[in-house]
Formats: sequence, structure tokens, C-alpha cells
Amino acid sequence: MNFTFSKMDFRNLVVGIDTPVVLRSGKTIKGINFDNAATTPPLIKVIEEINSFAPYYSSIHRGGGYKAKISSDKYEEARNTVLKFVGGNPNKDLVIFVQNATAAINKVAHRLAQQAEEYINSGSKKNNKSMEKMVVLATSMEHHSNDLPWRNNYEVKYIEVDECGRLSLDDLRAKLEKYKGLVKLVTVTGASNVTGYVNPIHRIAEWAHRYGAKILVDGSQLIPHAPFDMKPFASNKHIDFLVFSAHKMYAPFGVGVLIGPKDFFEHGDPDYSGGGTVKAVTHEQVIWNDPPFKDEAGTPNLMGVIALTAAIKTLNHIGMRNVDKHEKALTRQLIQGLKKINSIELYCTEDEDQERVGIVPFNMKGVYCDLLAEILAGEAGIAVRSGCFCAHPYIQRLLKISPDEVNSVMQNPNGIKPGMVRVSFGLYNEHEEVEKFIEILQEIGKDRWRYLKLYSNKHKTA
Ligand code: ALA
Repeated sequence: MNFTFSKMDFRNLVVGIDTPVVLRSGKTIKGINFDNAATTPPLIKVIEEINSFAPYYSSIHRGGGYKAKISSDKYEEARNTVLKFVGGNPNKDLVIFVQNATAAINKVAHRLAQQAEEYINSGSKKNNKSMEKMVVLATSMEHHSNDLPWRNNYEVKYIEVDECGRLSLDDLRAKLEKYKGLVKLVTVTGASNVTGYVNPIHRIAEWAHRYGAKILVDGSQLIPHAPFDMKPFASNKHIDFLVFSAHKMYAPFGVGVLIGPKDFFEHGDPDYSGGGTVKAVTHEQVIWNDPPFKDEAGTPNLMGVIALTAAIKTLNHIGMRNVDKHEKALTRQLIQGLKKINSIELYCTEDEDQERVGIVPFNMKGVYCDLLAEILAGEAGIAVRSGCFCAHPYIQRLLKISPDEVNSVMQNPNGIKPGMVRVSFGLYNEHEEVEKFIEILQEIGKDRWRYLKLYSNKHKTA
């Protein structure tokens, strides 16, 4: 398969592009999907691969049959395909297949806490200092999945963002110095699901390592959109842990990836136990299997893994640099177009030097975000996400919500929350779609009262 870099190639790779969607008027038109940060449609190759593998589908690591062997081999080979895609080291890194990035982060949080506790309980005078609670440095721009799992067992400190929502490296350095000796991990998103900003993860890794901490990168919004390199173990820029979800990279069959050092997972008990996690069991005793098996309880999701490897194969053929280039061009066009509409308020910098993926958050003055999303769908068949994008603290910062307002949201968590509208691109989106989007926004902006009247004010919460 040899792709020339043209929009048609990209568009024809995805399932459901021409599926009609129904407008408020009852008319059907070809829809536009600008909600790829939430989930992406499947690639045609992914569905084809699922169908062609289905006759061989069988039990993994458990059966002696011909198909069971093929299934097990496919599943195991996938670990190397994934590692190669992100520059991991097959001798030192381990790939664990989980449900999604959230499950992967929870797994690391569980195991890291267990290891810290063991170290503390080993109780020599030497580690008295470790009796203080260990610190995880997260950032103020994280999705809840890379924030909440750390709160149970760690003191979580948040690296600040500036007024445009960009991460402050000065604050990272200040916090590493302030909590010197206590920081176990720096955990950071590769790209924000709200502003699309790409963080300088290799510089962050250098700083984290200098202070004896490891780094975890949540790659959910970055891996499907740009080239990624974990870098060699010997390098200070090395990424220790990487997580991402297949459903955000055109393979929606319920698999997620956790990559981390083999020796880290050799240590400790799994968070979930059950079939496949053990070497031997009596009623009194358990001897855990080696990783990754002890961390993949129950029958593995083979079809999910088949889908993921098929997606990686297609992405490799296109070239992640081409994906990045195309989505960046769409983003530039969108930001330029939004800037020309008076009623639009942007929540990310317009700075062209800012490294980013194709995500743009905004609001239209006088139109609540959820209502604007409804109007876009009802009038033009355009799907966007609205609300707080599972990143409430970051949204509060970007919207400059006062502590009193935040407090009132916390008092009334089912009420209407301040939020935003978000456009997020996939590789198959087109410049014509962005043009159409800008046109309809201009029209809504000019005739706000009519649209507000037409659409009932049924607000959902984020
Ligand atoms: N985290 C996903 C999003 O940003 C669900 O929409």
C-alpha cells in the first residue's frame, strides 16, 4: 500500500464518512465529525482485519488447538508492533494490554504505591525520610484520568499553567526542587484534550530524571496525531511509562496500552487477579505469573489487539508526519476563521509556534456551549463536544472562573457548569469541512436570537 499525500486517500480510509445524519428540519445530509478527541471512527482496514481474522479467533494462552496457537501468536506479536510504533525497547520495555488509557494509569498508580509502601515497610533507618507521603507531580491541564487515580496514595502537586493554559516549566523545576527526594513520578499529558497543546515531554523527562523521579506520559491525544519516540533507556529524555487508548486511534474495540520498564512490573501483586495471572495456586498460596501475564487478568481482548495493530499498520503507511502536517493545516485554517468571527472567544493561544494537535476550544458569546453544539448538529450535521471534557480544573482556569463560582458548582454538582465547545480533528477531516463550519458559525453569530429561540434550552452537564 503506497499513499500519496492527498485528502482523498485519508478520507477513503475511514468507515462511516458518508453516513447521512438527520438535521432538526428532518432533512438528511452528510455529517461532519469534529469530535475525534473523544473517539475516532474505525479505519476500513481495521474492520477488514477483524473480519479476515474472525475465522481463526480462538482462546489465547490456554488452548492447544491450531487456532488457539495462531491466536496466541498474533496477540504476542502485537506487543512488538506497538513498541516499534512508539520507539520502545523490546528487551527492556513491557507492553500490557488493558481496557484503555484510564485503566493503564490506574494500574501504574496501584503498583507504584505498592512498591513505595514495601520500601517504607522494609523499615531501615536509611529510609526514614520516605515515611513522608510520596509526591506525584501532575499538571493543572490533566484530564481526570491522569489526576484522580493518583490522589489516593500520593500527595498530588499540580504544575501550574499560564494564562493561556500552557504548562510552566519554571513551575515544574520549582516543584521538583521544593519536593526534592519525595517526587516519585511526574505524570503529564502528551497533548491536552482541551487546548491541544503538546507538552515538551522529553525536556520534562530530563528534569524528572535529574531529580530521581520517573515520568509517565498520557499519550491518548498525541499518539494518534503525531510521531512519538520513547527514546533509549540510556537517555535522560527516556519516557518511562506511556499509556494510550486504541479507540482514539481508529480501532474502537476496547483495548488500551500500557508500556513501562519490565523490572517495574516484575515487582508486586497485580491490581486485578484471576485466570492467567498465576503460575501456581493452592487454597493458601499464590505464585504470580511473570509480567505481562500477571497484569492481564482473564481472557485477553484479542479482537481489540488485532484492531489496534491493523490501525498502526495503516498509520505507519500514511506516516505520522503526514497525519500531523494535515491536521496542523486544518487547525491553522480553523483558528484563522474563528478569529474573524466577533462573537467567538478562543481559549487557546493563536501563536503559530505553539506545538499542538488539532484541538481548538472556544465559545460563542451569548450562546451556552451545549446549546451551540446542539445548533451545529441540528442545522449543519456537525458533531462537536461541549462541556468540561473531563478536565474540570483546567476548564475553570481557562475560563477564569472565580473561586466563588467554583464553590457554587461544587455545591450544586448537577447544575449547569461553565464550559466550552471543542473541535477536534481526525486525519480524514477536510479543509472544505472547516470552511463549512466557519460559515455556519458566522450565520449563527449573526442571528443568535433566532437560533436561541429555535432550540430548546435543554442543557446537559459535562
Ligand atoms: N477524554 C475524552 C475527551 O476529551 C473522552 O473527549
